[in-house]
Amino acid sequence: MHMTRRSHYCGKLDKNMLGEKVELFGWCHKQRDLGGLIFITLRDRSGEIQLVVTDHAPQEVRETAAAVRGEFVLRASGTVRAREEANPNMPTGEIEVELDSLSILSKAKTPPFYIEENSDVNEALRLEYRFLDLRRPDMQKKMMMRHRVTKLTRDFFDNEGFVEIETPMFIRSTPEGARDYLVPSRVFPGQFFALPQSPQLFKQLLMVAGYDRYMQIARCFRDEDLRADRQPEFTQIDVEMSFVDQEQVMEINERFLSFLLKETLGVEVKTPFMRLTYDEAMARFGSDKPDLRFGLEIVDIGKQIADIDFPPFTRALETGSVQAIVVPGGATFSRREMDAFGEVVKTYGGETFAWLFKGDEWRGSVMKFFSPEALEKLSNELSLNNGDALFMLSDTDRERGLTALGAVRLALAEKLDLIDEDDVKLLWVTDFPLFEYDEEEGRLVAKHHPFTSPRDEDLALLDTDPRAVKAKAYDIVMNGSEIGGGSIRIHRQDLQQKMFEVLGLTKEEADTKFGFLLKAFDYGVPPHGGIAYGLDRLVMLITKSPSIRDVIAFPKVQNSSDLMTKAPSAVDPKQLAELGIETMAVDKDKKD
Ligand code: AMO
Repeated sequence: MHMTRRSHYCGKLDKNMLGEKVELFGWCHKQRDLGGLIFITLRDRSGEIQLVVTDHAPQEVRETAAAVRGEFVLRASGTVRAREEANPNMPTGEIEVELDSLSILSKAKTPPFYIEENSDVNEALRLEYRFLDLRRPDMQKKMMMRHRVTKLTRDFFDNEGFVEIETPMFIRSTPEGARDYLVPSRVFPGQFFALPQSPQLFKQLLMVAGYDRYMQIARCFRDEDLRADRQPEFTQIDVEMSFVDQEQVMEINERFLSFLLKETLGVEVKTPFMRLTYDEAMARFGSDKPDLRFGLEIVDIGKQIADIDFPPFTRALETGSVQAIVVPGGATFSRREMDAFGEVVKTYGGETFAWLFKGDEWRGSVMKFFSPEALEKLSNELSLNNGDALFMLSDTDRERGLTALGAVRLALAEKLDLIDEDDVKLLWVTDFPLFEYDEEEGRLVAKHHPFTSPRDEDLALLDTDPRAVKAKAYDIVMNGSEIGGGSIRIHRQDLQQKMFEVLGLTKEEADTKFGFLLKAFDYGVPPHGGIAYGLDRLVMLITKSPSIRDVIAFPKVQNSSDLMTKAPSAVDPKQLAELGIETMAVDKDKKD
């Protein structure tokens, strides 16, 4: 078939084009046959335009237009004219195209849902018919924004002298935070590649190789439990630099984010960004990714309640702490609402949640433990006003208590509608602990990864109190979401060896796991450090989407399956035999 050329995208037509001949392609959004006149709304990725077939149109055009149905693919040509009655809800609502020719390029079944902006359709159905869902204008805007973010990112780093280098997808399985996805080898039956959880080791090798400033838009794979902001395969903006310290990495990344947010949202963010150490962030917000768009800071009330004879408080003060949030106007919460906050505490394993309401008379769950004088003192020291609530949480484990109260803080912000969705609050969280204790394994593990450098001032603590050692590691947080994280790496052999010792790895074990990196480090390694952003998360925040799935063209669902292609799937036994693999009987319920 000979295809005429498109002259314009539908959404790009405007009233300066009156009288112009245009040639359009797109999908029929709606057809209305009024007898004398037939209207068709034609949609492409730029927007919509109204087509009109009048009684002056050739008979065959009228017949074709009468046969058009929703989602048919059309070629239409005609002349731009002013609409008799403008439609203020449509960007091209002042004009229409009077057709002199129309062809149906393809017919369509009635779709399982209407293709329109923000339609309230069950997500499983949307994902099964993702090719239709992606036709919706709001989804198209998100995909275009994703493209733009990717392009701006490449432009920015290119301008700064970074080179994009691809790293392999089939790699050696090296333990990182999550479980690896494995790929069986046919040539080496019984052996496996892993898909990379991130290009971490390869970007460090590129520094050893002298590339100095590297970036990559990199696919990463992690077999972990999914959440609204987590996918098993996702994309990182991965960055590494040589001969830099933490300040220099932060400085260039602040410029990057300012540039990106200015170009995409038109938002001016001030540099340098706010910084909180991990300890401060936990103490004030109960989170290592605090949302700073609202207040409700946490205060330690250990001193204020030291004399209160409430057993959970007394117990908590021995090994943990008692923390509180002053909730302005919170004294109006009902019993049911307070129970809901209690549930949040439970979800995070917090121990004892208690509250006091200040009014003409005090009320609360722990009233009988407070004398009038104790209430007066507490109220004065915490500057409580009439009508305020004091939420208290005691826990024998300080960090667990803070985390639970941090979750209550977020629930409060939602309940009280404190978040301005147009606000952008960025901050660095720095000085993370270098290690954390893994309950399951009963030993210390690296919080970031084993190549993260300790702070210089903490080196001596590696021998005496490793849990107190802080790392040259930093996360970047936007509106309560961790959009990126990185660190300065260890480049000294003796320090790396020490790190392995603390982690309980012998030289042989370290060699088996990371031998190639350690070998490379014998041949001249520059001081280096970097960062990786979750590109999907960043686009999710920029487009104000509730889920990461909204900004990924073909995402997985909660159980990591794909509802459209129905992957994963069983494979031909012949394929398995070639790989030397036999599957065990699987629980049918789990498989579905
Ligand atoms: P990290 O593991 O912190 O660091 O990952 C960096 C960023 O990637 C995003 N992210 C995810 N996004 C979607 N789905 C997931 N499952 C997922 N997991 C992580 C987050 C996170 O901040 N190699 C190091 C970086 C470095 O040290 O340079 C790394 O991967 O936004």
